[in-house]
Amino acid sequence: MDFAGEIESTGKDVKLLKKGDQVFGLPGFDMGTYAEYLCLPEDGTLAIKPANMNYEEAAAVPFWASTALFFLRKGNIQSGQKVLIYGASGSVGTYAVQLAKIFGAEVTGVCSTANLELVKSLGADKVIDYTKEDFSKSGETYDVIFDTVGKSSFSGSIRSLNQKGVYLLGNVLKLSWYFQGLWISMTSSRKVIPGVAIETSEDLNFLKELIEAGKIKSVIDRRYPLEQTAEAHRYVEKGHKKGNVVITVEHNNKT
Ligand SMILES: NC(=O)c1ccc[n+]([C@@H]2O[C@H](COP(=O)([O-])OP(=O)(O)OC[C@H]3O[C@@H](n4cnc5c(N)ncnc54)[C@H](OP(=O)(O)O)[C@@H]3O)[C@@H](O)[C@H]2O)c1
Repeated sequence: MDFAGEIESTGKDVKLLKKGDQVFGLPGFDMGTYAEYLCLPEDGTLAIKPANMNYEEAAAVPFWASTALFFLRKGNIQSGQKVLIYGASGSVGTYAVQLAKIFGAEVTGVCSTANLELVKSLGADKVIDYTKEDFSKSGETYDVIFDTVGKSSFSGSIRSLNQKGVYLLGNVLKLSWYFQGLWISMTSSRKVIPGVAIETSEDLNFLKELIEAGKIKSVIDRRYPLEQTAEAHRYVEKGHKKGNVVITVEHNNKT
């Protein structure tokens, strides 16, 4: 769903972009980015690539950083709030930690032992190793809990929210969570917010500014050439990638 690359040619009515422009973006549910070429409308979700990122780093941004941004905004994140990012070492999680810090939050990241240093290096004020400690049993409470991987305990997370706390569900495959969340939102001062992120060119330009200001980086775990895409999926589907996995495309001696 994401891409970064160089514009090879434009249609005669295209005004905003030209051949040679380096862009990043996403075609939404049209998908199709496992390819050498992609055809997009000028007003699609794309923007000029951050100057300080290579194509691999930029290709990881559109869907995943936009998702983190979408949910943190839905949670009305405010400076000084205590925010817990569950799944802080994944793609959405690594961007969410960095964005929550940019919004001025005190950030706790939950990940496994192997990723503690990574999550700290992204700016998390505290890290919790989920293999050793259940954050919801510490008695600590948060203004925002953002579960990026759908593996937090629902009841434990609700218990760990402040009175007006918000539980953001970035990945809900359990229908029962929607109904429980709806009930909690209707009957208490706490809010449960599931949903599907909407990505825009405005958000891509906002992210580009933050990246060029040195405030956000992409964590790249592995790179696979296009012909090894199935292998890349096998690795990702194990559920333990650190940040992002990208597919590289060789074309006219360029990557
Ligand atoms: N709602 C939307 O609009 C939307 C948009 C985009 C993506 N998504 C969804 O968001 C999900 C997140 O994708 P992602 O790439 O960020 O991550 P992912 O590939 O689903 O998960 C990888 C990360 O999850 C961590 N993890 C695995 N088990 C864990 C556990 N029990 N507790 C805490 N962390 C755990 C892993 O760290 P360890 O190795 O340390 O365990 C790894 O870093 C995807 O399932 C995607 O479908 C939703």
